[in-house]
Amino acid sequence: MQALDRLTAEGMIEGKHGSGTYVAVQIQRSLPQKTTRKASKRANNLGTKQWLSIAQPFTPGIPALDAFPKNIWAKLSSRWARALTISELNYGDPVGIMPLRAAIAHYIGSTRGVVCNYEQVIITSGSQGALATASMLVGDYGDSVYIEEPGYVSARNTLKLCGLKLIPTPLDKAGIRTSDMEQHKAKIALVSPSHQYPLGITMPMKRRMELINWAHKVNGWIIEDDYDGEYRYDSAPLPALASLDPKGSHVLYIGTLSKVLSPSIRLGFIIVPENLINQARNIRSAFDRGVSTFIQAVLTDFISEGHMSLHIRKTQSLYAERRLSLLTALKELDLKPIGSPAGLHFTVPLDIRLDREISQVLANKGLGGNPLSQYYNTKQHIKNGLVLGFSNALAHNIKKLEINLKNIIK
Ligand SMILES: Cc1ncc(COP(=O)(O)O)c(C=O)c1O
Repeated sequence: MQALDRLTAEGMIEGKHGSGTYVAVQIQRSLPQKTTRKASKRANNLGTKQWLSIAQPFTPGIPALDAFPKNIWAKLSSRWARALTISELNYGDPVGIMPLRAAIAHYIGSTRGVVCNYEQVIITSGSQGALATASMLVGDYGDSVYIEEPGYVSARNTLKLCGLKLIPTPLDKAGIRTSDMEQHKAKIALVSPSHQYPLGITMPMKRRMELINWAHKVNGWIIEDDYDGEYRYDSAPLPALASLDPKGSHVLYIGTLSKVLSPSIRLGFIIVPENLINQARNIRSAFDRGVSTFIQAVLTDFISEGHMSLHIRKTQSLYAERRLSLLTALKELDLKPIGSPAGLHFTVPLDIRLDREISQVLANKGLGGNPLSQYYNTKQHIKNGLVLGFSNALAHNIKKLEINLKNIIK
């Protein structure tokens, strides 16, 4: 009763004789109403539908969530929850904590052949944060950027948001067609040479050298998205493109923990040339002030104590098995994926029905698998197909997909 008296005294509520107590009329008017005012053009330009990676079996790009090393992660997390010092609870360096940058410099040197000093490693929130930072670091509003056609939709959106103009560039069997890159004056190219997303092409050495020569000739930048380069099933993974440009003068290398560990950790990194470290720090500071120190500390121990290499070795053989089971099931249906034996996904070309319809039918059954056509920026080159992630697919999921695809294509 006391509370009601107080609210009445403050004019928040009013009594109506014989009817009850109501929120005062003037308060009701100031409550948020639905607005018809629009968001900015750049927000609307991102489209109405986003094909977000909801983790269903076969959704591309999701690692084996069932194989996440929970026990060791819990042990390291509880160690750090107790150990964080007063200064570690303060704002951290926006480019990341030094021990993690050092651990990543060492890790990326041994796994991907990219030699750098720890100061060149800039910690970001996933590759998404890395790409935003990289495009602001080397691009100005209105600058053009060559992107792969088809290519990664989220990367496209990031570049657009950062004010860059996209130049979709067709691919051939070796990846992005460097011969088409003379026509425009763009000086930035975003590529995924280890395992092109979504077609799975591994760029051969000749094309890598052509790309690096292009960057030197135009004095431009290659942004290398090496999102799943650790996984290769027929041989050792090829070194990253950045390893061919040792001074790092023309390649900005982007890596992520999303595929080798978990996308929920939201941790990625860029390797930048030494003369750009301070500008990268300023961008990180202005943009989001950096990534959680706690997660960085846990990850530092995870890498330095050898758990990361062990986890990659384990998942490498797990994914090889899952990939083979899916290939066998698809063979029964006369479906043959394209691309190199690498990464976490492959693409199956289809010409029987619109791939968006097929993908929707599968989604209704709780199965992932993205339509290939969604990855094209222009209508001109569109092909139909299904992009299937095998890393997060269990045996019973594969059986279920086989049965459903059989019904669709019969
Ligand atoms: C081509 C490509 N790059 C990068 C990523 C990883 O993004 P993030 O590190 O932001 O999770 C993905 C995830 O699906 C991807 O497909």
